[in-house]
Amino acid sequence: MANVQVAVRVRPLNERETKEGGRIIVEVDDKVAKIRNLKVDDRPDSFGDSREKVVAFSFDYCYWSVNPEDPQYASQDVVFQDLGTEVLSGAARGYNICLFAYGQTGSGKTYTMLGTPASVGLTPRICESNCVAFLSFSFLEIYNERVRDLLKQSNQKKSYTLRVREHPEMGPYVEGLSQHVVTNYKQVIQLLEEGIANRITAATHVHEASSRSHAIFTIHYTQAILENNLPSEIASKINLVDLAGSEKADPSYCKDRITEGANINKSLVTLGIVISTLAQNSQVFSSCQSLKSTANTGGDSGILVSPGTSSRGGSSQRQSYIPYRDSVLTWLLKDSLGGNSKTIMVATVSPAHTSYSETMSTLRYASNAKNIINKPRVNEDANVKLIRELREEIERLKAMLLSFELRNFSSLNDEKDENLKELILRNELKVGGPSIISRSRFELPT
Ligand SMILES: Nc1ncnc2c1ncn2[C@@H]1O[C@H](COP(=O)(O)OP(=O)(O)OP(=O)(O)O)[C@@H](O)[C@H]1O
Ligand SMILES: [Mg+2]
Repeated sequence: MANVQVAVRVRPLNERETKEGGRIIVEVDDKVAKIRNLKVDDRPDSFGDSREKVVAFSFDYCYWSVNPEDPQYASQDVVFQDLGTEVLSGAARGYNICLFAYGQTGSGKTYTMLGTPASVGLTPRICESNCVAFLSFSFLEIYNERVRDLLKQSNQKKSYTLRVREHPEMGPYVEGLSQHVVTNYKQVIQLLEEGIANRITAATHVHEASSRSHAIFTIHYTQAILENNLPSEIASKINLVDLAGSEKADPSYCKDRITEGANINKSLVTLGIVISTLAQNSQVFSSCQSLKSTANTGGDSGILVSPGTSSRGGSSQRQSYIPYRDSVLTWLLKDSLGGNSKTIMVATVSPAHTSYSETMSTLRYASNAKNIINKPRVNEDANVKLIRELREEIERLKAMLLSFELRNFSSLNDEKDENLKELILRNELKVGGPSIISRSRFELPT
């Protein structure tokens, strides 16, 4: 079990905000982000105003990227040292990982996830540090609820819409999405640049290079290892997601911008519902777990509780249905949200007073996401798992045989002893047998 890790990053005031006399209303103090409501007056005669002047939220990480001269300034490298390292170490241990950026349009999602040529972001940095492993990539965008491959060969001019399907064990996937094997960092960067160039961006009234689609860059990470002197593989999937920005509809926009905006908002609303339902379910689940442990440790309730119900809450505490399929984005991220994945969310915000309501809503959203509990599992190589289990069985049988011999060494029960010996021998043959170990993709052909 692992909670979704949540980071908040505050960007500098932009040109427009500075021109408008933007005042900084967000501050960061270690792992706490505070937001000030300038409309709430703190004069004594404002008695009766129930709104809070400063609201504080705590997170796993808070990054102050407002002013490079500030001692607590968080550069792209600082963010990578925390979040990128977390992604890499999880993938190296065999976990699936999802890192996604969420926030208002123009708040710094693309800057954080991809960066600029002068200031490289998380995705290229993660790829660069991954070079010891065997990697393949895919890069897609969800635009107007349709999936497009951002790395389809350039001679195929037609833009394809790909279908999302669901594998009973592997979960949702995109049928026909191209996979690209790379052997060095230069190839990764070429692919990334190609995909970014194919992605749909447009000028909006707030941001002249606004991402109009959600982009998912997936790294299939495979590393050859030796486990108990046996060749094995660690395989995991890293999803790096740059969401399109949430924004208010502007009636002066053309039809395309309005349709895009409506679709972006639809999937972000669904993402919000999925996140809050998962958070509620995780709370129900953990309160059931604690009730169970109270019951098991002799607590006075004495009532056993199953994960769908509680002794106190009754039906209101049931696990709620999660509407993953209501948007393509949430369907594709199903496994990353509440499934077999370690998940990190970066909430990006503007520090300006003009963005008060958007920043407040992002911080609330992010705070909610912190409550989601996932169930990440190590993706273990099936052959290695079998061998490990057989070895454990051999050790257990050997221990049984030893204690049996010690107990009966004066009057050995030959028949039982022979049976145990034969069982051990059969397991040892299976473990050592060459047919069990498939060739690793890293072994050279003989
Ligand atoms: N931490 C930061 N430091 C310096 N500049 C930043 C930072 N974050 C964002 N910016 C700049 O702010 C502008 C908007 O950022 P970005 O494109 O990342 O926004 P976005 O959240 O992806 O918006 P959209 O949702 O519209 O795609 C860009 O010019 C970017 O370079
Ligand atoms: Mg963007």
